[in-house]
Amino acid sequence: MAINFYNNLKESMNIIIKTGEQIEGIRKSSKLAGEVLRYISEYVREGVSTAYLDQLIHNYIVEHGAIPATMNYNGFPKSCCISLNDVICHGIPAENVILKNGDILNIDVTTILNGFFGDTSKMYLVGQPSETAIKLVDTTRHCLHLGIQQVRPGNYIGNIGYAISRYAIAQGYTVVYEYCGHGVGLEFHEEPQIDHAARKNSGPKMRPGMIFTIEPMINEGKPRVKVDESDGWTARTVDKKLSAQFEHTVLVTETGYEVLTDVSNDY
Ligand code: MF3
Ligand code: CO
Ligand code: CO
Repeated sequence: MAINFYNNLKESMNIIIKTGEQIEGIRKSSKLAGEVLRYISEYVREGVSTAYLDQLIHNYIVEHGAIPATMNYNGFPKSCCISLNDVICHGIPAENVILKNGDILNIDVTTILNGFFGDTSKMYLVGQPSETAIKLVDTTRHCLHLGIQQVRPGNYIGNIGYAISRYAIAQGYTVVYEYCGHGVGLEFHEEPQIDHAARKNSGPKMRPGMIFTIEPMINEGKPRVKVDESDGWTARTVDKKLSAQFEHTVLVTETGYEVLTDVSNDY
């Protein structure tokens, strides 16, 4: 997810309207990213390291003719992000991070296929997490879908974050505002910024051919992020409470939306 730079700007200047050819390329890359998340699900279990999952993901992406976009992105060292429990996002896969019963984790994959980017993430459960952890995960998934349902030409981008934050707050959670969704396709992070907490009818209007991610991060406790000083990436909740996230890449069509990373996974 992109760092929230222009929280207060009303209009975005440079939103790319993709051509049919570009949409086709981004559709293929997004489909592959979704397939990576489906492929990895059977390997997510107690006792495996997140570095092992990253290696499998790396191999799968490369074997399908693509490049993992996170590798060397601003110095990020791995082929995906894996964020456990109180890690909000940008967790770095590592040999010494071993999955244990009750963990909840997000795996975030971005593919570059023939130069086009697709970006998606979902939550996985290890063994039997607590009921409160499962409720957070289910609510976050629902937040993503509420956001997606706001996508149609002429609607305000702010209504995505409005729908998400209204629901999340009503359920007793908070919405991370320091990271946001983003335009995607020709680059990893393009305009516009997609805030997951926003005022009604704020921001630019959606137009057919726009492609962006919606990727709400929802917290049990405080919304603030603290980035690990030792690695410069791992973003944790400030109170060590749980955080969850789901992400899809979405195309604005003439009549509504197409979820480009949806390959009939369970999210
Ligand atoms: N995939 C993330 C997103 O949804 C970005 C990860 S950037 C990295 O935008 F450098 F941390 F990998
Ligand atoms: Co993203
Ligand atoms: Co992502």
